Amino acid sequence: MQLINQMKVEFLSIPANVAFARVAVASFASQLDYTLSDMEEIKVAVSEAVSNAIIHGYENASDKFVRVVASLTKNALQISVEDDGRGIEDIKQALQPAFSTNPERMGLGFVFMQSFMDSFQVDSAPGCGTRVKMVKKVSTLVEQGSQVSPEH
Ligand SMILES: Nc1ncnc2c1ncn2[C@@H]1O[C@H](COP(=O)(O)OP(=O)(O)OP(=O)(O)O)[C@@H](O)[C@H]1O
Ligand SMILES: [Mg+2]
Repeated sequence: MQLINQMKVEFLSIPANVAFARVAVASFASQLDYTLSDMEEIKVAVSEAVSNAIIHGYENASDKFVRVVASLTKNALQISVEDDGRGIEDIKQALQPAFSTNPERMGLGFVFMQSFMDSFQVDSAPGCGTRVKMVKKVSTLVEQGSQVSPEH
């Protein structure tokens, strides 16, 4: 599918930037006709991926960079969230519901990303960082001219 727009942003690995990334991607995504619930799902997926990069990838070090790339086609948004952190040893295990290397966490971030997005892929290797790629399609086709516009 043909790319119609793209954004790339890099920010420090601090928790305040989870909200920044979520709002930045949502604002970019609003160029397509997503429903409110689709937008909420995109925001959660971005928050979970960026949180993982900060918490697990960089083990809460605040001087590293997280990269987010968002690409728009006519009817889909692809999001890539990347860190250059510690990487994931066993991706299959990491994707299992309720698996976490941190006993205080729920182990649900990847579950949300997978269930909220239409496609989901993790590339990672120990010591080489992690990249999560996700695609959200526009689910409702708003038919041109089908909406009644108010008379003035
Ligand atoms: N960017 C990353 N770098 C290194 N390890 C990661 C990364 N993202 C995820 N992981 C590993 O995958 C596991 C599962 O991630 P997931 O987001 O599903 O759960 P969690 O972050 O542990 O808990 P929750 O998201 O519910 O707070 C993590 O516990 C961590 O070990
Ligand atoms: Mg998580």
